[in-house]
Amino acid sequence: MDPKAAEKRIAELCSAIERHNRLYYLEDAPEIPDAEYDALFRELLELENRFPHLASPASPTRRVGAPPLEKFTQVSHRIPMLSLENVLTEQELMDFDERVKRFLALPPDGDLEYTCEPKMDGLAVELIYERGVFAGGSTRGDGFTGEDVTQNLKTVKTIPLRLHGEAQPERLEVRGEIYLALKAFQKLNAEREEEGEQPFANPRNAAAGSLRQLDSRITARRPLSLFCYGPGIVEGHEFTSQSQFLRTISEWGLPVNTLSTKVIGIRGVLDYYRRLAELRDTLDYEIDGVVVKVDSFPLQRELGEKSRSPRWAVAFKFPPRQACTVVEDIIPQVGRTGVITPVANLRPVEVSGVMVSRATLHNWDELEKKDIRIGDTVLVERAGDVIPAVVKALPEKRDGNERRVSAPVRCPECGSETVRIAGEVAVRCHDLSCPAQIRESIIHFASRNAMDIEGLGERYIEQLLRLGMVKDVSDLYYLKRSDFMRFDRMGEKLADNLLTAINRSKQRPLSRFIHALGIRHVGEHTAKLLASAFGTMENLEMASEEELLSIREIGPQVAQSIVSFFRNPRNRETINRMISAGVSPLDEERRHGGRLSGMTFVFTGTLGRFSREEAKRLVEREGGHAAGSVSRKTDFVVAGTEAGSKLDKARRLGVKILSEEEFLTMMEGSSE
Ligand code: IVH
Repeated sequence: MDPKAAEKRIAELCSAIERHNRLYYLEDAPEIPDAEYDALFRELLELENRFPHLASPASPTRRVGAPPLEKFTQVSHRIPMLSLENVLTEQELMDFDERVKRFLALPPDGDLEYTCEPKMDGLAVELIYERGVFAGGSTRGDGFTGEDVTQNLKTVKTIPLRLHGEAQPERLEVRGEIYLALKAFQKLNAEREEEGEQPFANPRNAAAGSLRQLDSRITARRPLSLFCYGPGIVEGHEFTSQSQFLRTISEWGLPVNTLSTKVIGIRGVLDYYRRLAELRDTLDYEIDGVVVKVDSFPLQRELGEKSRSPRWAVAFKFPPRQACTVVEDIIPQVGRTGVITPVANLRPVEVSGVMVSRATLHNWDELEKKDIRIGDTVLVERAGDVIPAVVKALPEKRDGNERRVSAPVRCPECGSETVRIAGEVAVRCHDLSCPAQIRESIIHFASRNAMDIEGLGERYIEQLLRLGMVKDVSDLYYLKRSDFMRFDRMGEKLADNLLTAINRSKQRPLSRFIHALGIRHVGEHTAKLLASAFGTMENLEMASEEELLSIREIGPQVAQSIVSFFRNPRNRETINRMISAGVSPLDEERRHGGRLSGMTFVFTGTLGRFSREEAKRLVEREGGHAAGSVSRKTDFVVAGTEAGSKLDKARRLGVKILSEEEFLTMMEGSSE
């Protein structure tokens, strides 16, 4: 393909991929199957590799993250990013409406138009588009100066890198809220716990932590989203009102919360508030109130700002989802990996419509730090997590009968001594035959994200263990109908359904099988990496620590854990028994090694930034091949200083020559 044709095709692919991103992430209405999308993406990657100078910084391939930064650059906001005054009651809302009308010298009984928007509980950012192309973005910071998080924002799939429509303003600054959807938050926390990391306290912290990563490849793995809600400086376009602004930017492809709407008068605001409060529990993101804005921009300008907040808007907050109750007991709970966590049994209390009787206390350090005791009156909160959390104790309510609890020295289930590894917050039971660990690991194995054995939940697994029919996960594949029939209230049909579900799970993708094994530090994401790197179970079982370490994102702790898992004869035996029973995880199509698949590189001359060996590894990791000599089959020659005959030959044969810098740029865009 000649460069002209490549340029045209790259442009076509960019806009098609961005369109499909939008359909998938924003509109929830994908038009093509994933495989077809992947094919377009791969085609674009390949073209960009062949013609690096045609790859645009706004290409969708850049969404995968760039190498880590040393620190963020400071950016000042040309218009400060203000905060909002809160109103907590209907009366305070009426007062706001009255104040606005008085300031504008409007009749007190007239109705103003307001735009009502959900107040997202995330963090504010500013995006800049220059002639429709995403040019950068920053956090709110202190309102005047924020941090340049451009690389990270590029990984947010709902942020368009290019806007639609012909007449794009010269410059468009747009503000919005970055957030993490509740489902994504729960999944992220489950994964963190599984991998021995401290879970995030709430979705807001998770979103903030993810956006402020110096390594944007980490941000790319966190499914952040954005809703835009306001303009900054706009050059080359006039907006007349907030509602018109939202409509227009949404047509341009920017994500806008569809629950935002224009209402008439303060009655309209109150109706909206009540409706949104009812919807609150059904939304997949956290909101903490309604933002009420005077709709007309000329009126907004007339009203102006106070020092920290505008006069034309307020946040009408929802009551917090908190309640007070008493801790009746604090019990140690043993998880699948042997981690023992404190859980509070609470006197049942209603927290905004939901009865709560248990709350997690996360870990023993936190329990000690928060000084929560049995008998304490505590504040509990539902904050986006399935399990509510204890916010704090109210020491003023103590009567002296409260009891402190410390980390158990013996496992509450099997009695063996607990261990606390230096530098880790977790207290563990290390006895692999601990019944609690076996139970939890079987529950994990059968769970939806692992082998997905439908119907085989906690209750049945407990009965299987109690009746001695199952000792480890492999026994599941040797169960017969008659075994299930020994259960209380079990009919033939139900037993058959369970057997069919077990049978069906025999052919799950390899990544699920790896995840299901419950290897320490191997969550869903790592399992996927392993499946695509090794392709088969046998390869993975034989992998050495060095081989594992050559996979990006796999560090020494994870590599060691995997090697020691497969070194354990009991684990190998369990896997073999499953395979003999017909479990045959489907080998995932080996990813063709990434973006350099099928390409041959030759390195020549003195390289300054890395050794020849490192360069070779980089290429191989991405599926390419590093050769010793130049031929017609060579795709690229990377020339360092004092390159000699190989460089001459490359020139003669017309092989594309890259400088070390160009090679690095090419590798930067590469990803898993
Ligand atoms: S408007 C001057 N609209 O709330 C206008 N803010 O307390 C200020 N927020 O920093 C912002 N959803 O992070 C606006 N629909 C929305 C919002 C919203 C969430 C956040 C934003 C802001 C904070 C102010």
